[in-house]
Amino acid sequence: MARVLVAYATKHHSTAEIAEAVAGELRARGHEADAVEASAATAEGYDAVVLGSATYAGRWRREARRFLSHERDRLARMPFWVFSSGPVGEPKDDAPAEDDTWLEPRKVIEQAEAAGVREHVVFGGRLPEEPDGFIEKAMVRNTPEQFQDRRDWDEIRGWADRIADQLAG
Ligand SMILES: Cc1cc2nc3c(=O)[nH]c(=O)nc-3n(C[C@H](O)[C@H](O)[C@H](O)COP(=O)(O)O)c2cc1C
Repeated sequence: MARVLVAYATKHHSTAEIAEAVAGELRARGHEADAVEASAATAEGYDAVVLGSATYAGRWRREARRFLSHERDRLARMPFWVFSSGPVGEPKDDAPAEDDTWLEPRKVIEQAEAAGVREHVVFGGRLPEEPDGFIEKAMVRNTPEQFQDRRDWDEIRGWADRIADQLAG
């Protein structure tokens, strides 16, 4: 049994729900797991870390970037995984493969890889239910309702299962 920190950074809470789902699946698989906001989290005392952030305009949230750089040395000594939560709207409109920085900020992934991240994945996101400001409101207005929440809970739990397997191994 491992003690796992699932640290996350969110603006409109949908990434927090992904983190809770990952932590819940890890617990169902017999591990101890805490989902904690990245600004309040430390890797100290844990055996493994999952770090996730919402992506806005090609950037991770500041709290997740800070966590990654502050905890880099600890992370380098333990298994850790990364997820980004982002794409919304019609899948056919997702950014082209050559523009992957929209989905996963390159600098963040380089830092995670330098610290030995086991895997980094991108999960579909959810547009805000209560959008702030003109840009968010326009995005919500211009996105068909069925594509406003692209989170795939089976995919998310399946990923957490793979982490649970590796921790058990
Ligand atoms: C103004 C705005 C900018 C966004 N920029 C990106 C982006 O660059 N890449 C991406 O994949 N998703 C982008 N998204 C989608 C968000 O990442 C998605 O809604 C995410 O699930 C929000 O997470 P949160 O609810 O935890 O804040 C953007 C959404 C908004 C409203």
